[in-house]
Amino acid sequence: MNFSNRVALVTGAAVGIGRATAMLLAERGARLVLVDVNSEMLERLSEELKEYGVEVLTYACDVSDETTVNNVVKDAISKLGKIDILINNAALWRARSSFLDIPSDDWRKYIDVNVMGVVYFTKAVLPSMLENSWGRIINVSSVAGVYGNARMVHYSTTKGAVIAFTKALAKEVTEKGILVNCVSPGSVSPSDNPDIDYTRESELSFMGRTGSDRENANLICFLAGDEAGYIAGQNIQIDGCRKKL
Ligand SMILES: NC(=O)c1ccc[n+]([C@@H]2O[C@H](COP(=O)([O-])OP(=O)(O)OC[C@H]3O[C@@H](n4cnc5c(N)ncnc54)[C@H](O)[C@@H]3O)[C@@H](O)[C@H]2O)c1
Repeated sequence: MNFSNRVALVTGAAVGIGRATAMLLAERGARLVLVDVNSEMLERLSEELKEYGVEVLTYACDVSDETTVNNVVKDAISKLGKIDILINNAALWRARSSFLDIPSDDWRKYIDVNVMGVVYFTKAVLPSMLENSWGRIINVSSVAGVYGNARMVHYSTTKGAVIAFTKALAKEVTEKGILVNCVSPGSVSPSDNPDIDYTRESELSFMGRTGSDRENANLICFLAGDEAGYIAGQNIQIDGCRKKL
C-alpha cells in the first residue's frame, strides 16, 4: 500500500487504534489531518510522526460540534487541497451501566459523538471526494454494534447505527468512486499503552487474546488503499473469533 498521493483525515487520532492508523498511513507516505479533543496527546503523536517526513496537520476538535468540524475540514482542504480518506474513529465507549441507570443526557452525548460525529465529518469531506471521483470512508464500529453488549446499551446502539450508516451510504456513493466500509473490533489492547503491537490475554476471543492497535490499523489501511477497490458497504469484524458473551 502506498499513500504518497493521498490525504487522510483520522478522528480520535491521539491514542489507540487512531494513533496506530495515523502511524501506518504516515509510514506509507500519506499526508495527515489528525483530529482529537485531547490536544496534548495529539501534539505528542505529531512529534512522533516527524520521523516519516510527511505533512501533518493537527486540530483540537470535538467531533460532535458541527461548526468546528466544518471549519477543520475547510482549513485542511485549503492547506492540503483535498481529503481522500476519512477514518471516523473517535468515540465514547468506556462507561458501563445497566440500562435503567443510563441518564438520557448520556444517551444524547453518545449519539452526538459516536453517530453525529460520523455524520458531520462525512458530510464535510464528501464534496471533496466527489470532486475527485475517489474516496475511502472507513467507520470504526464495534462488535457491540453487531451482537449488543449488556451494560453498554447506549454504546451498542450507536455502533449499530454506524454499521447501518455505512451500508446505506455506500449504496448512494459507491458508483461515484467513494467506497464506504466499516470495521468492528472486538477486544483491543488498552489504548493508553503506547506499544501498538501490545496484546494481552482475553477470554472474549477464541484466540485467547486482545487485538493490537496495529492489527486494527492494518485492516483500516487495507480498506483505505487501492488494493481494496472492490470492497464497499461492508462491516468487517476484527475480533480473533469472538465468543458472543
Ligand atoms: N478499544 C476497544 O476495545 C474497542 C473495541 C471495539 C471498538 N472500539 C472502537 O475503536 C475506536 C477507537 O477506540 P480506542 O479504544 O482505540 O481509543 P480510545 O477510546 O481510548 O480513544 C479514542 C480517541 O477518541 C478521542 N475522542 C473521544 N471523544 C471525542 C470527541 N468528541 N471528539 C474528538 N475526539 C474524541 C479520545 O480523546 C481518544 O483519543 C472507537 O470508535 C471505539 O468505539 C474499541
